[in-house]
Amino acid sequence: MRTPILAGNWKMHKTIAEALEFVKAVHGPLNDFPRVEKVICAPFISLAPLSEALRGTGIQLGAQNMHWEDQGAYTGEVSPLMLKGLCDLVIIGHSERRQLFGETDETVNRKTKAALTHSLTPIVCVGESLEQNRAGETEACVGEQVRAAFDGISAGQAVRIVVAYEPIWAIGTGIACPPEDANRIIGGVVRATLASLYGDAVAQAIRIQYGGSIKPDNVTELMQQPEIDGGLVGGASLNPADFVTLVRASAQAKGLA
Ligand code: PGA
Repeated sequence: MRTPILAGNWKMHKTIAEALEFVKAVHGPLNDFPRVEKVICAPFISLAPLSEALRGTGIQLGAQNMHWEDQGAYTGEVSPLMLKGLCDLVIIGHSERRQLFGETDETVNRKTKAALTHSLTPIVCVGESLEQNRAGETEACVGEQVRAAFDGISAGQAVRIVVAYEPIWAIGTGIACPPEDANRIIGGVVRATLASLYGDAVAQAIRIQYGGSIKPDNVTELMQQPEIDGGLVGGASLNPADFVTLVRASAQAKGLA
């Protein structure tokens, strides 16, 4: 069975002090759910203090982006070498980075490879826009994003990647994708594309999250879907009580609590 992975994506929220307060509030209650992987993806500036604060808590730490080069003249960027040792995971190709900061399928692929090289677990985000969804292009768009992200990546590396299916129209809107639809795209498009690239056994081993307006009141139904292996959560991950609720509900929905 694939271990569920629930990741909070704080985006550009929380000062260092607020980040440390959050950890104090959640680490005790989250101890009750050792069979769900729990991740906080924080702004760069909080990663060093959080890596100390999270030691021994069973909560993993993730970055929200990185460059693909180890070092160089790239003002304002952070490299995988700098993240290595500080965090365990890194979000790659979030739709906000694709839409607002010029990320392309090619940079997503480069960053994914760089993360793997440096033993960081990439959370690779894919998902269609509202226009693509309305035009019936969801399958083609998501399939192509998956193929491009995994280009040149071996089966042995592919199993270490986490994919997050995040329909853009569901992010931050309060309107989550209906659970059955999310399950259908994750199984029928994301996992099916991975199966066409690597075979069924590898595709079955890769974890695929859903993301987009996950909240305490819809998380159970989403996590009950067999193809959904966890969530990437923005807004609802900022509140400690909500984050604990999301982890608890995920554990229960998967029969792990
Ligand atoms: P949301 O964000 O939960 O606030 O919709 C999800 C994401 O962007 O990862």
